[in-house]
Amino acid sequence: MAAFTFVCCECAARYRETEVRYVCPACAVQQQPGGVTRGVLSVEIDELPARWPAARVHDPGALTAFLPVANPVTLPPLRVGGTPLLPVPGLRRLLAMPHLWVKDDTRNPSGSTKDRASLLVVAKAVEYGCGTVATASTGNAASALAAVAAAAGVRAVVFVPASAPPAKLVQMASYGAQVVPVDGSYDDAFELSLTACERFGWYSRNTAYNPFTIEGKKTAAIEIAADLAPDGPQVVIVPTGDGVIVSGIAKGFADLVRCRLLKRAPRLIVVQPEGSPALARALRAGSPSVTPVANAASVADSLVVGTPRNAIMALDRVRASGGAGVTVRDEAILDAVAMLARTTGVFAEPAAAASLAGLLAALDEGLVTRDERVVLMVTGSGLKDVAAASRRVRIPEPVPPDLEAVECLLGETGV
Ligand SMILES: Cc1ncc(COP(=O)(O)O)c(C=O)c1O
Ligand SMILES: [Zn+2]
Repeated sequence: MAAFTFVCCECAARYRETEVRYVCPACAVQQQPGGVTRGVLSVEIDELPARWPAARVHDPGALTAFLPVANPVTLPPLRVGGTPLLPVPGLRRLLAMPHLWVKDDTRNPSGSTKDRASLLVVAKAVEYGCGTVATASTGNAASALAAVAAAAGVRAVVFVPASAPPAKLVQMASYGAQVVPVDGSYDDAFELSLTACERFGWYSRNTAYNPFTIEGKKTAAIEIAADLAPDGPQVVIVPTGDGVIVSGIAKGFADLVRCRLLKRAPRLIVVQPEGSPALARALRAGSPSVTPVANAASVADSLVVGTPRNAIMALDRVRASGGAGVTVRDEAILDAVAMLARTTGVFAEPAAAASLAGLLAALDEGLVTRDERVVLMVTGSGLKDVAAASRRVRIPEPVPPDLEAVECLLGETGV
């Protein structure tokens, strides 16, 4: 059992688990409808492990001593995390970066990093005896919740923009979740899901509202640090929407520094699309808070948020890391989907390939140097949005089943 305390990221008030469920009550009174979440709580584990687990960190359940769970047996029976850190020789050569890695989180059960948060949230739902867990999502968090809930035998209700890519909608429905497609934006779905949770007594997995969404993502950082021990990475590049993945990753490295398993946490680089740039823009301007973006839009649908809910914590943690923010054009994101797939064998959805587009921007701006130890977070599978990837490939016309036709087709590229 890892005992823990909740700590408010704004006023530093501390709460026991029995005292509060979602956000700091003192700061929540300042909450504006649709605004950044006020009083987001951080989970502070009382006693972190003094050494790496005896099991490989990639084995299921190996990191439970770092997690705020009462009993490891409550972890839903699905193989979340333990994803590979790939050395990507082709991309290293292309970019002249000998110390570059891809954290391939497309390998999670539902195909995205969001599984890490859902695993912990559903574990807590089971611990608290909640039979229904609900969330708003741009798509991946909903699929992740639906998958983990299915494994745990818990009901999931998911609120998503009706415009989410069809593969994501089909995926979450296939896992048996109750899908609520919202005729509106992700921000609309977020508010509706909060109201529904209050009305129906469901446990909310809303990102940056339920503190375990942030804590659950930290396992990605712990795995990266273990794979690159003892020094760890110098830079981690994180595609960002609400700022929960980047905050969770910061938390993972901070925990390791606290328990002396890592000397120094890496700089975190936030990547956002030009059409949804609130956090990156605030980082670049040095402003204390974000300015919401009206009509946010991008081909990287998972990163589209008008108001990043976890802005206060994310700005703090990225700045504390010595990191920065970059914005990337949609065309650069689509190019990065193709470049990543061709040079590494990892097929990413646009949001996830945005980390590669962000690396190119960060190199251009001198935020990262080519000799540094850099990790790209690749957070979601390309199979989730085939329509986007299809904009950078050409499928040849069908040929009759004879060799001459094949030779003729290969004539274009060579046998
Ligand atoms: C594939 C993918 N990458 C990155 C993100 C951004 O995560 P966050 O909203 O926590 O910043 C998301 C969020 O939906 C996502 O689905
Ligand atoms: Zn507070």
